Amino acid sequence: MKRLLIVAHAPSPNTLRLREAVENGARHPDIEAVEVVVKAPLDAGPEDVLACDAIILGTTENLGYMSGALKDFFDRSYYPCLEETQGLPFAFYIRAGHDGTGTRRAIESITTGLRWKLINEPLTCRGDYKDEFVEQCEELGMYVAASLDAGLV
Ligand SMILES: Cc1cc2nc3c(=O)[nH]c(=O)nc-3n(C[C@H](O)[C@H](O)[C@H](O)COP(=O)(O)O)c2cc1C
Repeated sequence: MKRLLIVAHAPSPNTLRLREAVENGARHPDIEAVEVVVKAPLDAGPEDVLACDAIILGTTENLGYMSGALKDFFDRSYYPCLEETQGLPFAFYIRAGHDGTGTRRAIESITTGLRWKLINEPLTCRGDYKDEFVEQCEELGMYVAASLDAGLV
């Protein structure tokens, strides 16, 4: 059994919907050998990262950066993971009211430092909330879980 960890900040009903969509996609019934663990960033730590085979990160953009909660997760996880998780497959999504680029850059910079392996184009759900965000997040979850299941990552 492989383990997929989803660490995503969900401070609003819309962002909760997106996190649930990622989880639903990852739990697709055809994906048999992947265990899915979902945590809020403040509840997740390096022990969760060390125990997973792939990770999906999710955050809002606030003041041009990732949420403080996801940053705190990185602050606590960076050094304990640095030597242990190089090559970890990961993907991420951002919910941004109007931009998202600062958050994307910040996540890319930290995960480059960690030498994690980005396996999907970053997803930015930008602008007014749309139902298509849910489909995009579901696809993201399914893609990462199916890739793990098939041994492709
Ligand atoms: C204090 C604050 C700062 C924000 N800063 C940004 C920002 O810099 N860039 C951006 O695209 N959206 C920004 N937003 C919008 C949030 O990203 C958005 O409200 C959040 O993702 C929740 O989305 P929802 O309204 O669909 O629930 C900000 C929101 C708040 C409350």
